[in-house]
Amino acid sequence: MVEMNRQWRLARRPARDVTPDCFEWVEDPIEPLEAGQVRVRNHWLSLDPYMRGRMDEARSYAPPQALGEVMQGGTAGEVVESRHADFKAGDEVVGQLGWQAYANAPARELRRIDTRRVPMQAWLGAVGMPGVTAWYGVNDILSPQPGQTLVVSAASGAVGSVVGQLARAKGARVVGIGGGTEKCRIVVGEFGFDACVDYKAGNLAGDLDRALDGARIDRLFENVGGVCLDACLARMNTFGRIAVCGLISGYNGEPIALGNVRSILVNRLQVQGFIISDHMDRWAPALAELAELAATGRLRWRETVAEGLERAPEAFIGLLKGRNLGKQLVRI
Ligand SMILES: NC(=O)c1ccc[n+]([C@@H]2O[C@H](COP(=O)([O-])OP(=O)(O)OC[C@H]3O[C@@H](n4cnc5c(N)ncnc54)[C@H](OP(=O)(O)O)[C@@H]3O)[C@@H](O)[C@H]2O)c1
Repeated sequence: MVEMNRQWRLARRPARDVTPDCFEWVEDPIEPLEAGQVRVRNHWLSLDPYMRGRMDEARSYAPPQALGEVMQGGTAGEVVESRHADFKAGDEVVGQLGWQAYANAPARELRRIDTRRVPMQAWLGAVGMPGVTAWYGVNDILSPQPGQTLVVSAASGAVGSVVGQLARAKGARVVGIGGGTEKCRIVVGEFGFDACVDYKAGNLAGDLDRALDGARIDRLFENVGGVCLDACLARMNTFGRIAVCGLISGYNGEPIALGNVRSILVNRLQVQGFIISDHMDRWAPALAELAELAATGRLRWRETVAEGLERAPEAFIGLLKGRNLGKQLVRI
């Protein structure tokens, strides 16, 4: 009997907000395995904000995803068949295998993972691309010093939660910005940040001042843009640094109006945008450190899990609206 694959493909580009009809559910027979290929059964799919950008045709750091193709995405799973000497059935791997149950992939596109001390799905989160992004921004761009104040937005999320924990371990005072009291409670209570500001509470400027406790911001890890970034710009310290990691508040095409750009000049700020796939040479040291921290309980994370590949579009739409707490995953 021919085994069937299940996939989500990009059916149409969103006009603004992503809607369920942007995706098409397809069930097709799995292609035969070619020499050099490995067949993986995906157990976990990672949903990430960058996918929103690829759904548009606008110029970006990566080409748009083609219409009619399987939605791109990071996955973790198990080798079920191999025609390459480096992999055998039962190996656990991560790859960029997309929103589907099975994939035939060239061996070079897979990375073996060790799930004895770190669970499989964490290799897509705190010990995966989002964790490496946090690690790179903290270590290679911001390099916070003991006693300095670091602010990170989307603080309860996959990237933000790791940023705060790494920066605090370096001796910085860490303030998060998050959406809602429950997220802020977890950011302080579980991730150990010094304070967290709920930007949805209606008093961002005053609440941020209170959380900063008289200090100015030496290091800003920016995940959101818009009003959060603007409020932070107005509170930067002289010779401060900003790592621009993401601008999710503008991913549906909303204008990103900033009133406090003058701060870059008067405070002589260093502003550095970065894309983690440009820094593949840093992944191995980052993953080694993050895996050790995770395995020894010194790095914590939260997950929001959608049960079943069928629910991927709904979970992705939720991620863009902030309905996730921590890493958004789909159990396939
Ligand atoms: N540069 C890179 O290489 C790279 C790599 C990975 C990720 N990123 C970026 O890093 C950021 C965080 O990614 P992640 O994977 O960790 O996602 P995440 O934080 O786990 O989830 C996204 C979060 O963004 C927040 N958000 C959504 N819309 C918002 C809005 N209009 N205003 C303010 N906050 C909003 C929501 O949190 P709240 O409820 O707290 O608002 C939501 O939970 C994104 O901007 C992403 O594009 C960049």
